[in-house]
Amino acid sequence: APEVRELLVSHIRDVPDYPKPGVTFKDITPLLADAKAFAALSEALAGICAQRGATKVVGLEARGFILAAPAAVRAGLGFVPVRKAGKLPGATLSQSYELEYGTAEMELHAEDLSAGDRVLVIDDVLATGGTAEASLKLIRRSGAQVAGVAVLMELGFLSGRERLVTELDGAPLDALVTV
Ligand code: PRP
Ligand code: MG
Repeated sequence: APEVRELLVSHIRDVPDYPKPGVTFKDITPLLADAKAFAALSEALAGICAQRGATKVVGLEARGFILAAPAAVRAGLGFVPVRKAGKLPGATLSQSYELEYGTAEMELHAEDLSAGDRVLVIDDVLATGGTAEASLKLIRRSGAQVAGVAVLMELGFLSGRERLVTELDGAPLDALVTV
């Protein structure tokens, strides 16, 4: 709904020249700090879970956790973390992905997902799409299905949406706000 979108947008703060000169950082902490806006965000994401027929919610460390966990609770679904390498104690699947400088690695407890699961991935921002793409690879490798990806904010000029086409394989990408 346009009112929800407006409520969310009005609580995202532009921080110029962070983390480096020329980059404008989209800070979601004012949104999280506002009870009404945070509740509206959680509600909107829970609605996407239902709409996409999700049976599990995957949140991406770290900021994705903050959005995915309340959405999962509201949607009546379990939450599964995709974490940066070395943080999960059990048997993990591991996927490397490219950063602006170098590579990083994300991990999933394979046993948290089963073949019958339809998984919705939630994160705060889709930028180049590298993080989301790695999570989709992990979900597919676990044997579960991808129900979709939902983000608060899509940075359209970085073309992350195009990067996800293959791994989405027809599953939807929902962005509540596109910049
Ligand atoms: C940020 C953001 C997304 C990701 C988007 O996470 O929260 O997860 O980058 O970028 P991409 O689409 O180019 O992959 P980051 O790893 O910076 O840190 P976080 O632990 O604070 O979430
Ligand atoms: Mg992140």
